[in-house]
Amino acid sequence: MTVILGIESSCDETAAAIIMNGKLLANVVVEQEVHKKWGGVVPELASRAHQQNIVPVIDQTLALAGIKANDIDGVAFTRGPGLLGSLLVGASFAKAFALALGKPLLEVNHMQAHILSHFIEDSIKRDRPEFPFLCLTVSGGHTQLVRVDDFKTFSIIGQTIDDAAGETFDKTAKILGLPYPGGPLVDKLAKEGNSKAFKFPIAQIPGMDFSFSGLKTAILYFVRDELKKDSTFLEKQMANICASVQYTIVKTLLDRVEMAMKQTGINQIALAGGVSANTELRASIQELGKKNNWSVFIPPIEYCTDNAAMIAMNGYLKFLENNFVGQNIAPSARLQL
Ligand code: KG4
Ligand code: ZN
Repeated sequence: MTVILGIESSCDETAAAIIMNGKLLANVVVEQEVHKKWGGVVPELASRAHQQNIVPVIDQTLALAGIKANDIDGVAFTRGPGLLGSLLVGASFAKAFALALGKPLLEVNHMQAHILSHFIEDSIKRDRPEFPFLCLTVSGGHTQLVRVDDFKTFSIIGQTIDDAAGETFDKTAKILGLPYPGGPLVDKLAKEGNSKAFKFPIAQIPGMDFSFSGLKTAILYFVRDELKKDSTFLEKQMANICASVQYTIVKTLLDRVEMAMKQTGINQIALAGGVSANTELRASIQELGKKNNWSVFIPPIEYCTDNAAMIAMNGYLKFLENNFVGQNIAPSARLQL
């Protein structure tokens, strides 16, 4: 029996999970409310909240899994990328816990973990991608199109040269005066709107990379100019703006996916990261998949946004290979895929 504890603290969720023999037993995520009033994640406040949350979150996870600390065989933690102060809390806890238990320590790359969230096993049976597949990882800080050849071989074939897709959703929400995190709210409001109401630019950059900063600026100027003409513009057009922006972000992403699928000849596409919770992205990629005869893999929402089940999963795979790290390991804010 192999029991792995996974710890995630890269941004503003404090999370822990237990995987036993590859199967998920408990998955706890605590979101930090403190950032709401600032309209974005404040790194220093995130570190402090992790420090307060980490012990109760781990206690709760062990209780839910019916596991005692001594039953744990390995402790996996997010090494990066992420906010350094936040990563330090999870890493320090993991090191201390592993040392106290006399059990091995496993470091996990957050972006690899998002991709491997497709292999989390719980009580529901789902289809999994087979190697090789392409994965569109879209989160608050990253937008990457990745070729996955096995559990350890990842190659980036396209990525954002400026803002991430999630960041674009969040900044749009901010321009519209909506609270943080804006992505889910834009998604919700877009359901009532017309996606063709306004036309926003789709960045035309060469190759397979993405760019979103022009779109963000276009939205900002557009809203500012319209508000000058009519101060009630936002109230009247909120849903239409959300739907039009969402349409543009999804189209920017899927144009590149289509190009990459053609170029690589791979016919399996997976989504990962917080933005894969987006209703329009999920529906559109399914539609595109049907049209092109691809197999499309979308994780359940709880495995799309930041969680520790994916960290424990990745840690479990490393445990099977005796791929441990020592106590001198340090987190890294800019860890590459
Ligand atoms: O992967 P994630 O939980 O954290 C990072 O590693 O960044 O992604 C968070 C991002 C945020 O930008 C959030 O606004 C976005 O995912 N997001 C969404 C939706 N749910 C979360 N964006 C659009 N539509 C959603 N339904
Ligand atoms: Zn993430």
